[in-house]
Amino acid sequence: MKEMQWTGKLYRYEAISEIADGSHQELCHAAEVAMQDAYAVYSNYQVGSAVLMSNGQIIKGANQENAVYPLGLCAERVAIFSANTQVPAEQIVAIAICTKKTIEDSEMPAFPCGSCRQVLVEQEKRFGLTIPVYVMNTDHKVFMVDSIREILPFSFDDTYL
Ligand code: THU
Repeated sequence: MKEMQWTGKLYRYEAISEIADGSHQELCHAAEVAMQDAYAVYSNYQVGSAVLMSNGQIIKGANQENAVYPLGLCAERVAIFSANTQVPAEQIVAIAICTKKTIEDSEMPAFPCGSCRQVLVEQEKRFGLTIPVYVMNTDHKVFMVDSIREILPFSFDDTYL
């Protein structure tokens, strides 16, 4: 038996203003604004997301819940699928996600769930690019991975089909 290892890279920004790309700053702000559109009456956990399109457009999404709990949809997928249908000719070039700060003694925000990670893998494969993912809390500490594959290693895609 041989032990095998892999590594991942995560960037941390002290504030949104530290992000070099102005359109990515705008994207992070849009994700926070999008939290207002959450329908999270069951969990009371509002999540906002925003995707930046190849034409510069920003499209927002927020989590949408249902009394039949499993029918709800995460903010990320609301934003991604809206973008794919509203501007089908454009590609998603970056995504930001914002949640409220719930753990006082940790600055780590909640990262996207496994289903949303898999949906982002599909976006990267479909359009042949890597999509930076910005994850933040309402405290504005921002974490970023260059590609969703950093946080979904060994991911499944159509190369296996
Ligand atoms: N949620 C998201 O919108 N994105 C995630 O990545 C994790 C969870 C939502 C789903 C549900 O409405 C609430 O947060 C609690 O799970």
